[in-house]
Amino acid sequence: MTVPPPIVAPSILAADFARLADEVRAVENAADWLHVDVMDNHFVPNLTIGLPVVQSLRAATQLPFDVHLMIEDPRRWAPGYADAGAYNVTFHAEACDDPVALAKDLRSAGAKAGLAIDRDTPIEPYLDLLPSFDTLLIMTIKAGFGGQRFIPQLLEKVRTARQHVAAGHLELRIEVDGGIAADTIEQASAAGADAFVAGTAVYGAADPAEAVRRLRALAERAAPGA
Ligand code: DX5
Ligand code: ZN
Repeated sequence: MTVPPPIVAPSILAADFARLADEVRAVENAADWLHVDVMDNHFVPNLTIGLPVVQSLRAATQLPFDVHLMIEDPRRWAPGYADAGAYNVTFHAEACDDPVALAKDLRSAGAKAGLAIDRDTPIEPYLDLLPSFDTLLIMTIKAGFGGQRFIPQLLEKVRTARQHVAAGHLELRIEVDGGIAADTIEQASAAGADAFVAGTAVYGAADPAEAVRRLRALAERAAPGA
């Protein structure tokens, strides 16, 4: 089983919010996507940034935006991020009663559509929906905060998804988010993930761009079929 070359997506949740444009430029030539965590203090207890910040940042970088919506009522808000120029817009399965309809809306607004699965949500009920999506984000922590410890047991969902994608010849990125760092990325890659969000491991490093390159190299080496 082979997987596409890995995507590394630094999460600006771990960046200095007072210097966001500079922090984004620090990974401009190293990252594949920029991961933007939107939290609404309802779906998760934490509160981060929203559409105006994404709109302003869009003008400050060439990097594709991977927007991760941890919000209630994504049908109301998600298409606005596609309109703002996000490359991929991911919403949570737990927050949406018609994920396929929203995926269609996002695609018609010009974005890729992503489905996120939180720590306590099984993957099986969503496997048949995957042809409607471009990315599947499997949380490797409980969504809500950066800097948490990676939960290796959740990679079982990645293995299940990878088998399903391979068997169905689906074009779908399998993304992992939470606790991804030099000591965890290889196991996630070996399980079949091919997109890797990293907040603390990138922005906590002395050289964020070098941290991104190092993570990508580790993921590449550990990928199935590599
Ligand atoms: C948390 C967010 C993550 C977060 C990951 O709910 O979805 O993207 O930034 O942070 P680290 O890499 O520090 O675990
Ligand atoms: Zn995230």
